[in-house]
Amino acid sequence: MITVINFGGQYCHLIARKIRELGTKAEIFPFTVSAEELKKLNPDGIILSGGPASVNEINAPLLDSKIFDLGIPVLGICYGLQLIAKTFNGVIKPGPSREYGKNIISVKGNDPLLKGLKKEQVWLSHFDTVKSVPKDFIVSSSTKTCLVSSMYSKNKKIFGLQFHPEVHHTPKGKIILSNFLKICTAKKDWKISSVLMQIQKEIKEKAGEEKILMGVSGGVDSLVASVLINKILPNQLFCVFIDNGLMRKNEKQYIESLYKKMNFKHFFSVDASKEFLSVLTGLTGPEEKRKAIGFTFIKVFEDKAVELEQKHGKISFLGQGTIYPDRIESAEPSKTASKIKSHHNLSLPDKMNLSLIEPLREFYKDEVREIGTLLKIPKTALDRHPFPGPGLGVRVLGEVTKEKLDILREVDFIFIDELKKNNFYDKTWQALAAIFPVKAVGVKGDARDYSFIVALRAVNSVDGMTADWTKFPDSFLEKVSSRILNEVNGVARVLYDISQKPPATIEFE
Ligand code: XMP
Repeated sequence: MITVINFGGQYCHLIARKIRELGTKAEIFPFTVSAEELKKLNPDGIILSGGPASVNEINAPLLDSKIFDLGIPVLGICYGLQLIAKTFNGVIKPGPSREYGKNIISVKGNDPLLKGLKKEQVWLSHFDTVKSVPKDFIVSSSTKTCLVSSMYSKNKKIFGLQFHPEVHHTPKGKIILSNFLKICTAKKDWKISSVLMQIQKEIKEKAGEEKILMGVSGGVDSLVASVLINKILPNQLFCVFIDNGLMRKNEKQYIESLYKKMNFKHFFSVDASKEFLSVLTGLTGPEEKRKAIGFTFIKVFEDKAVELEQKHGKISFLGQGTIYPDRIESAEPSKTASKIKSHHNLSLPDKMNLSLIEPLREFYKDEVREIGTLLKIPKTALDRHPFPGPGLGVRVLGEVTKEKLDILREVDFIFIDELKKNNFYDKTWQALAAIFPVKAVGVKGDARDYSFIVALRAVNSVDGMTADWTKFPDSFLEKVSSRILNEVNGVARVLYDISQKPPATIEFE
C-alpha cells in the first residue's frame, strides 16, 4: 500500500487514483499523521501531495520529520518537494512569477524515478522554487525557468518533483509513478475483482445471520452497494426506496423494475409524495426546503424500518453506499462534499442500535462503476447523471407545488430524452431543468399566454467542484426548446444557463 499525505492540494485524490490504476492500493492521510501511525501501517511508499501554502509561511503545514527516518521511500510532489527541501536544509524562495502550465524538463543523471525519460512535457503550478538543494540531494531535471524541477537522495530513497506526474498534461507521468512503485517494491495486487471477493467475505462474516436495512435512491452508489450485498445475502437484505414526489418522470417505475431485474427479494417502495409536499408548503428558502426534505426523509425511513422490524424481526445493520471520497477529510472541505454527506448518512434512532455496513467505503466512483459492471448491473444504470438528494425540490425555485413539479418533470423528460437521442447524454456530466417562480408573457395560437419560465442547464465537470456550461450546437437547443414549448402546457419561455461554477453552483438552489 502507498500512503498519500494530503497537504490540501487539489490533485491529492488524483494521485491516489493513479496509483490504484497502476494496481497498488493507495490511501490518503492528513498531513498531521505521525511517524508512529505510519510505522504501524507499514506502507511500501509515501507520497507527499501538493498544496496551496508556501513552506516559508509561519503556519505552513509541516510533517512529522521522523517519517523520513522510517526507511520507507518518499516522493514529494510540488509542495511535497519543497517540504523535503526545507526539512533537509535546502533553500526555497519565491520564483520571479507564478509558473502555471506546461513546460519541458531535461532529465540528467540516473535518477531511478525518471528512468526512461529524457526531454518531456510536464505540468507545473507553483510560486516557490528550490534555489539550493539540500546536502546529499542531486538535481535530476530542470526546465528553462525552473532549475530544480526534480531532485533525489539515492541513499535515503527520497524523491521530489516540482511538477505534477498525476495530471493528464504530464504525458509520461504514469511512467514516473510506476518507477516509484518499483523503487518501493510495492505489489500490484489492487485488482477490483479480488478486492470485491474479499469484501463480500468480510460482509458475510460481519452480518452473520442478521438482517440489513438499506435506503436506496436509484443513484449509482446505493445501487452498486445494494446489489453487492444482495448477491451474497439475498434473504437478509431489506431495501427501501422512498418516493418523495420530487423525482424525475417515471423514476419510481424505473427503480422498481431495475430492482426486480436485479433479483431483490425484499424491495419496498414507499409512496410518501403527499407527506413531502405538505411539509414543503409555504417554504421558499433553499436551505429550509433542504432541511424539511432531509428531516421528512429520515422520518419516513424510520417509520418503514420500524414496520419491517415488527413484521420480519430484528434488524441489526444499516447498509450505506458511502464511497471513499465521502469519508476522507479533505484539507479544504467543500460545501458540496459536506452537503452530499449529510444526505447520504441517514441517522436512525439509537434504540434500533444499527451498525453500519458500507461495502464501497474504499472505492472511488470510477471503481464503483467497475464493480457495478462486474456485478452485471446494466450500463445505463451505472452511467446515470448525479441527482441531488432533495431532487426537484431544489429545481422548483421558491415554493414547491404539484403544478410546478408536474411541468418541470415534463420539461426535464424532454431535455434528457433529446440528450440521449442526440448522443450527448454520456458526454455531459450532469443535465437538469429548473422552473422559476415567476411567469412571462407569450402568444399561443392567437391568444395571449402567461406561463412559467423554465431553464435548462448542462455542465461538464470532473467531480462537481468546478463546472463549465456545455456548449451544444444551436440546432440541438432549438429542437429542445421547440419541443418543450409545443408539448408542455404552462411554459412560456425556455432559457439556457451559461453560468460557470464558480461563481454559480450546478443546482439553481
Ligand atoms: P452544486 O449545486 O453545489 O452541486 O454546485 C454540486 C453537485 O452536488 C449535487 N448536489 C446535491 N446532492 N444533496 C445531494 O445529495 C444536496 O443537497 C445537493 N446539492 C447539490 C448537485 O446535483 C451536483 O451534482
